[in-house]
Amino acid sequence: MNLPNHIAIILDGNGRWAKRRGMPRSYGHIVGTDTLEKMCNHIADLGVRYLTVYAFSTENWKRAEEEVRTLMNLFRKYLKRIEKSAHKREMRVRIIGDKTGLPEDLQKRIAELEKVTDGYSKMDFQIALNYGGRDEIARAMTRLANDAKNGLLDEQLAEGKLQESLLASYLDTGGIPDPDLLIRTGGEQRISNFLLWQMAYTEYYFTDLAWPDFDEEALQKAIDYYNGRDRRFGDAK
Ligand code: IPE
Ligand code: IPE
Ligand code: MG
Repeated sequence: MNLPNHIAIILDGNGRWAKRRGMPRSYGHIVGTDTLEKMCNHIADLGVRYLTVYAFSTENWKRAEEEVRTLMNLFRKYLKRIEKSAHKREMRVRIIGDKTGLPEDLQKRIAELEKVTDGYSKMDFQIALNYGGRDEIARAMTRLANDAKNGLLDEQLAEGKLQESLLASYLDTGGIPDPDLLIRTGGEQRISNFLLWQMAYTEYYFTDLAWPDFDEEALQKAIDYYNGRDRRFGDAK
């Protein structure tokens, strides 16, 4: 079996999962957080090197205030809770997305977590919070333009064309290889502004299972699907 080096997951379907049980959407997010913890540990045990999960998009602020508040509280708790696993599994944790748009105490927690796990290299775990693929590219381009204006990129721009690798290095995922497999739970078959640049050659796997129901068996199905794909990158093999 070929294990994907980098798995990306759009954790979707929490709200509908809860509604089907006659519960508020927030209940789905609570159970979904437990699922995330379980799956992250399981994926680490399998030996997958990179895991990136989409937990809150730049568009998700449009949800009801109460739901956004619950989600922020869950992130607060979760980012405390995972520190233990991070130490145990020597896992480096990074948040991708516009951190400046998050509540200040969360920004602080993120900075601490990133700092204490910075030296680990067994696994890399990225959590996308206040993340949007277009926003990420816009922020990267802003920094790149500033660097260019300050003369820091004269050499790189001498050939008259921006190298793709230079642009990629300005993204939040700079230094992280592109995902090999994307999993989206919850039945929708779209990307919802996730890793737009990075998923140019990723295999996409969609499942109707809601995120709180996602388990080891479901993950295995996704990996089996990935193994059945003919991984070509535009060449004529
Ligand atoms: C995913 O579940 C979690 C977040 C986007 C924060 P949803 O909240 O989108 O659940 P559905 O898709 O409405 O069921
Ligand atoms: C995508 O799910 C974002 C996250 C999982 C964080 P959404 O439920 O927000 O996306 P749409 O609204 O179905 O596109
Ligand atoms: Mg959704």
